[in-house]
Amino acid sequence: MAPERNAGTAVCPGSYDPVTYGHLDIIGRAANVFDSVVVGVVNQPVRKQKTLFSAADRVSFIEEQIAEYPHVQVKPFDTLLVDFAREHGAKAIIKGLRAISDFEYEFEMNQLNRKMAPDIESIYFMAAPEYSFLSSSGIKELAMFGGDISGLVPERVAARLQEELKR
Ligand code: PNS
Repeated sequence: MAPERNAGTAVCPGSYDPVTYGHLDIIGRAANVFDSVVVGVVNQPVRKQKTLFSAADRVSFIEEQIAEYPHVQVKPFDTLLVDFAREHGAKAIIKGLRAISDFEYEFEMNQLNRKMAPDIESIYFMAAPEYSFLSSSGIKELAMFGGDISGLVPERVAARLQEELKR
């Protein structure tokens, strides 16, 4: 029986360049708690760095993995995160925390987002131990040097990474 949920809408924002099983774990856990989840894929170079994959690719990589969650949708966004959340009537922003090193950045983002939208709560899910070392940048580096990334990202993402990095 599907678990009962009564927690409204949440957004799960990120660059997802590319999505990893760590991200998908957080999205799935958010989907188990909230009535509706909007995965927001940043369509802006937030950190000036160009993304390896286009927003359309990053959206489709996630969409392919969420078939079991009909109440999860994936959308690109290029506005303030809090505006994106408001647009979707979200009460919460969900983020994953892997290690203490994530805390400083997330703390800063939390303060900024809270200042702009005190009515939207940021909620942090601790990464599952098996994914606590996993990051999109780590995956790209591993792939670039021929490391084995199977089991860390979906198969199509792994294949596309090999293609992109050959260029
Ligand atoms: O770590 P990520 O995946 O690059 O995080 C992206 C995001 C949007 C979740 C993070 O930068 C954030 O919380 N930003 C808040 C400020 C904001 O709204 N930026 C505009 C993004 S289009």
